[in-house]
Amino acid sequence: MKRLAVLTSGGDAPGMNAAIRAVVRVGLEKGLEVLGVRRGYAGLIAGEFCPLGARDVGGIIQRGGTILGSARCSEFEAEAGQRQALERLHQQGIEGLIVIGGSGSQAGAYALARMGFPVVGVASTIDNDLYGSEPSIGVDTALNIALEAIDRLKVTASSHQRAFLVEVMGRQCGYLALVAGLTGGAEAIVIPEVEADPEALAAELHAAYERGKPHAIVVVAEGAYYNATRLAAYFQEHQKRLGFELRVTILGHVQRGGAPGAFDRLLATRLGAAAVEHLIRGEHGLLVGWLNGEVAATPLSEVVKNKKALDPRLLELARILAK
Ligand code: F6P
Repeated sequence: MKRLAVLTSGGDAPGMNAAIRAVVRVGLEKGLEVLGVRRGYAGLIAGEFCPLGARDVGGIIQRGGTILGSARCSEFEAEAGQRQALERLHQQGIEGLIVIGGSGSQAGAYALARMGFPVVGVASTIDNDLYGSEPSIGVDTALNIALEAIDRLKVTASSHQRAFLVEVMGRQCGYLALVAGLTGGAEAIVIPEVEADPEALAAELHAAYERGKPHAIVVVAEGAYYNATRLAAYFQEHQKRLGFELRVTILGHVQRGGAPGAFDRLLATRLGAAAVEHLIRGEHGLLVGWLNGEVAATPLSEVVKNKKALDPRLLELARILAK
């Protein structure tokens, strides 16, 4: 193999740049030419390639986001889009592709792999919902950003004896909410995986108020039926007496925009390097992720058909501690 390409796709995640840097510099070390693809699969379809040298990836390891840009690309979900992308890869003489991204992006990688193109995925999404990596690139930084916000909200909540509904990202997965809630000392956690009872939650908050708690923090996953907006509306509509005054904070994309911490930089560096090594060895159709304390490769065929479950022990611990 002489020439490989790398792209970042889907929601950006802190650490993507560190992964790009590792891909480029390990590739160069192995005597390969490395091309970047701009704007994920959208750029692949449009043929937006750029050569990447060692200097092009200098000073990016500490930067959030992705220097290549990213996109959500519905055109690539159709076979016509995938064929066009494949043609672009062949036109450029590219013999291997590295896809840095989450579940949608890895489904795209699998589609290319099934068409016979050598692809290796790198697990990267703040949602931590990707089978084959525990955690994926970006999760740790996103959690720390959520925690910083929760810690600050707790300060102002205590000054005013208020309850806060803090909504965190995660699409349909409650991992970010569960772990941010556990480590942020939340009074309650609402996640899509467990049906929420707003009546019971209101009673819990009221009981916490009666016990003299100066604040109540409820961490809510955006994917839960009772997300922060619905929950606040329910409390208001049913005139729930919480004791606390209620405020809502939706963290949204703030969680994605941070500079990667040490954990994500190291993880991204190791996974990026491993992806290149797999391609060179002729091993592809894989996702490289982090499993049981080491880099591990999982066939993309398994990645796309399996769902990652939340650790039931964390769920139980959250229940016990949320008093
Ligand atoms: O998948 C990452 C993620 O941040 C999810 O947590 C969130 O639901 C989604 O992306 C938001 O997507 P967008 O950036 O396209 O609005």
